[in-house]
Amino acid sequence: MKHSEFKKRRKQLMQRIGHGNIALISSASTRTRNRDVSYPFRQDSDFYYLTGFNEPDAVAVFIPGREQGEYILFCHEFDEKKAIWEGAHAGLEGATGDYGADDAFPIDDLDDILPGMLENKSRVFYPMGRSSELDHSLLDWINHIKAHSRSGVMAPGELISLDHILHEMRLFKSPEEIKLMRRAAEVSACAHVRVMQKCKPGLYEYQIEAELVHHFMQNGLRYTAYPSIVAGGKNACVLHYTDNAHKLKSGDLLLIDAGAECDHYAADITRTFPISGRFSEPQKLLYQLVLDAQYAALEYVKPGQPWQAPHDAAVEVLTRGLIGLGLLKGRIKKLIKDEKYKAFYMHRTGHWLGMDVHDVGDYKINQEWRILEPCMVLTVEPGLYIPENCKQVDEQWRGIGIRIEDDVLVTAQGHEILTSGVPKTIIEIETLMQAS
Ligand code: GLY
Ligand code: MN
Ligand code: MN
Repeated sequence: MKHSEFKKRRKQLMQRIGHGNIALISSASTRTRNRDVSYPFRQDSDFYYLTGFNEPDAVAVFIPGREQGEYILFCHEFDEKKAIWEGAHAGLEGATGDYGADDAFPIDDLDDILPGMLENKSRVFYPMGRSSELDHSLLDWINHIKAHSRSGVMAPGELISLDHILHEMRLFKSPEEIKLMRRAAEVSACAHVRVMQKCKPGLYEYQIEAELVHHFMQNGLRYTAYPSIVAGGKNACVLHYTDNAHKLKSGDLLLIDAGAECDHYAADITRTFPISGRFSEPQKLLYQLVLDAQYAALEYVKPGQPWQAPHDAAVEVLTRGLIGLGLLKGRIKKLIKDEKYKAFYMHRTGHWLGMDVHDVGDYKINQEWRILEPCMVLTVEPGLYIPENCKQVDEQWRGIGIRIEDDVLVTAQGHEILTSGVPKTIIEIETLMQAS
């Protein structure tokens, strides 16, 4: 991502905060995995969105109209020893020289310097409740100013969540962001094709996971956007299955929900296919139903449609189909009203997608479902999950879990599927697998 993009975002943020006010946000911290080993560091998405700064223990401050500079970054000072053990870090010079901060201070001086920056500001925008350390520090700093009110300084009177302003910005993707999302989607789609070709009975789920990660990394994408779900047979009925530890059996389906991250932007793809390359009849019937539900939902992904419309379309197709196959009994209207489909379809049809896999942005405005607009990106991911112990359905359906998930950009004309590189019709999947 170009530095000019981060600068543009900061400018937009400053305009929304307004003169006389201040915003602050802290970076993610490193987390201990065990003893002196940390989990891989992943920057907080909001913090990265505004700064492009990829180190822990930093705080960014935005003060519109401040004469000495509007953007201040607190971070670690450059330390030779740290550089030898842990590698490059920006230091104060890098914060201003490379990352565009107008001013930079050591993070250890935060408590001394920040109260002065809060003095005489009316409103403080910050990610309320996300970091208890920042929450507490902010109240301490404000109390510190109040204790000196006789000298004429004023403490801020309003604390406002930064989320709303920032997440509205993040919801609408710029051309630069779409480029990164396209790359994440394309590489992830190729990885799904690759595992369809490599899959065979007897492999373990984690060996398929290894193929996915191999493809992501070989193509320059080091990280997955979320833990990959590689679920053979009935494991597919566990929605967030990540054990990935079982042997793949001939005759079962394999559900894979996996996506790479490209410079902090996620892809999120699910495909379900037969481990041995051919769907059985019951698998075919349920699979086609999920696919029809996805096509129906996609019809409603266009500007002017409410957020809920693709979900409603998917639910209607699924419920009608479940009646047709004998898995639900009754009248469609009543079954939908009573949410009977939830026995087999218990999640929603999608979510916003961006720097976070379940990305930020309001789904309702003034209690009404939000209207889709160009440059929003969402997933469309209907599914059916028939629990193994579901006695009220015929045995042939039990233990089958299917989901089909694509990443979709809303365009002025309608939509563009970013993940269309991976097949999803029965014939396409069987043809690809049998040619391998
Ligand atoms: N991978 C999580 C989801 O599909 O929402
Ligand atoms: Mn998803
Ligand atoms: Mn997914």
